[in-house]
Amino acid sequence: MPVIKFVKEKIEIEVPRGANLRREAIKAGVNVHQGVNGFGAGLNKVINCHGFGQCGTCRVLITKGMENTSPMGTIEKLRFRCPVPTPVTPGGLDPIPCLAYVGHEETMRLACQTKVFGDIEVETGPPIDLFGENFFS
Ligand code: FES
Repeated sequence: MPVIKFVKEKIEIEVPRGANLRREAIKAGVNVHQGVNGFGAGLNKVINCHGFGQCGTCRVLITKGMENTSPMGTIEKLRFRCPVPTPVTPGGLDPIPCLAYVGHEETMRLACQTKVFGDIEVETGPPIDLFGENFFS
């Protein structure tokens, strides 16, 4: 059975092959909805799209074993690469997940859209560099 290691939380769990990463994290008591740099984590734990790939709050980094996960699907690609309307920000665009993706293209996933087929290591709540030195260049 695949093992998921949540690095920050120091939790390791065994899951069935093909398990959904977000569901397994919730079962293990790990909050994958961390907000923006930790701000809003409590709120996002309740206010999110509950696994439909629309809010972007469940983004995580797969720091080891990306090859043991399902390939990124269309919903996930759209969520990371385009500022699309979101039910969590009524009437507005939510570019935060797109900003978060910059610089993490090889490791970032939406936990709710990721299936686990082998051992992986996961970092929850990856930071967003809102004021990066090249932001305005
Ligand atoms: S729970 Fe909303 S995108 Fe994953």
